[in-house]
Amino acid sequence: MTAAKILVVDDELELERLIKLRLRKNIRANEFQLLFASNGQDALKKLQSETKIDMVVTDINMPDMDGLTLLSKLQDIDQNIKAVVVSAYSDLKNIRTAMNLGAFDFLTKPIDFDDLEITIKKTLNFVQQTRETLSQLQDMQAQLIQSEKMSAIGQLVASVAHEINNPVGFIASNIDFASEYIQDMLRLLNLYQQHFPNPGQEIESTLKEIELDYLVSDLPQVISSMKTGTERIINLSKSLRNFSRGDTAHSVAFNIHEGIDSTLLILQYRLKARKNCPSIEIIKEYASLPLVDCYPGQLNQVFLNIVANAIDALDDLNQECSWEEIKRNPYTITIQTEASTDNDWVTIRIKDNGSGMSPEVREQVFDYLFTTKPVGKGTGLGLAISRQIVEEKHGGKLTCISALNQGTEFIIELPRQQSYKEVSKPKCDRVLASCGS
Ligand SMILES: Nc1ncnc2c1ncn2[C@@H]1O[C@H](COP(=O)(O)OP(=O)(O)OP(=O)(O)O)[C@@H](O)[C@H]1O
Ligand SMILES: [Mg+2]
Repeated sequence: MTAAKILVVDDELELERLIKLRLRKNIRANEFQLLFASNGQDALKKLQSETKIDMVVTDINMPDMDGLTLLSKLQDIDQNIKAVVVSAYSDLKNIRTAMNLGAFDFLTKPIDFDDLEITIKKTLNFVQQTRETLSQLQDMQAQLIQSEKMSAIGQLVASVAHEINNPVGFIASNIDFASEYIQDMLRLLNLYQQHFPNPGQEIESTLKEIELDYLVSDLPQVISSMKTGTERIINLSKSLRNFSRGDTAHSVAFNIHEGIDSTLLILQYRLKARKNCPSIEIIKEYASLPLVDCYPGQLNQVFLNIVANAIDALDDLNQECSWEEIKRNPYTITIQTEASTDNDWVTIRIKDNGSGMSPEVREQVFDYLFTTKPVGKGTGLGLAISRQIVEEKHGGKLTCISALNQGTEFIIELPRQQSYKEVSKPKCDRVLASCGS
């Protein structure tokens, strides 16, 4: 438990000793941490330099800056901070002013220490509840934005897949007929050639012009490459549908590699070489994995967020490196998968050789709205949502290892069965402890 931080502001120095004495049990139990300031100015400095003070207990009449002025400035520092003012019972006018300035409660002098303890606990409780509600609201807002974003991608992908599916179906089913008809016609042509070896000048010159022998020998090749192309489009459309499959209310057994592959397909256009951007090589080191009981649409979001971030990091590097350097050290994203020896957990590692992160950035990557990207390019939600999907929805673990100029690795660990998540732990705890997140 971390102690709640309380700032006591009073010019009577004796009060510090008394409060410490009377609240010593709470201090020892690590419930409260008390800080002291002798006037409003001093309090403002402490509020700005100390991290997250939970509440302020302030006198009203003090030299340099009085409690009412301090109160009027508190909201600019932290909107969640709550203040309790202390004043003489007869000083009703100031107490009213303090309440109108947003004070949470008031105490009268001489201080009744039992009442002080109750008031502090009540105020801290309120601060805690407000923080929790605010954080839940932020979570919900972030989820809404992200799911809106993802459902837009999902819908687009699903509709493109659907639109491709029908015409490609016509082509696939007609190629075999076309091939058969052509073979029949060639057989007929052959018979004509046998029975009428001298067809006349006009036919002979046309035969030469169209190079019939070449045409006949090349035709099987043409048909076969049309078939290959059609099969590729069918697979593409399958992958697109696979990526955008709606989430079921229950988890389903899913082939993780299919999820990763369909995600890579969605991002294919960003992996290919573009103007001023070399191509990014995907190195797949797939192990044999069991089917994983999960919510595939959500897991695909996680893969999409992590791989898209890796591409962004490589694009960033691109601004700084010469072609020579890039040739020597080509851009890669390595995706490794492995199953634990008992097959109860699977691990997916996605590693790039991009710019990496400073320790300060690495510390914050999973925080909501944390982004180092310019406005319009990043919202700072991708990893926060991904962690939520992996850890809260699937009972897994999402961690990150990164250092500046050393690239970045994200590790996703998932239980094979959703029922395992409560009883067993990821096998990779040792690695996780060492990367400290
Ligand atoms: N592979 C990576 N290499 C370097 N930095 C990364 C990498 N992945 C994430 N980051 C850092 O983590 C930050 C947060 O990533 P996150 O995906 O949560 O948000 P974002 O990419 O900025 O925005 P979006 O919400 O659009 O995903 C990024 O802005 C970036 O600074
Ligand atoms: Mg991102």
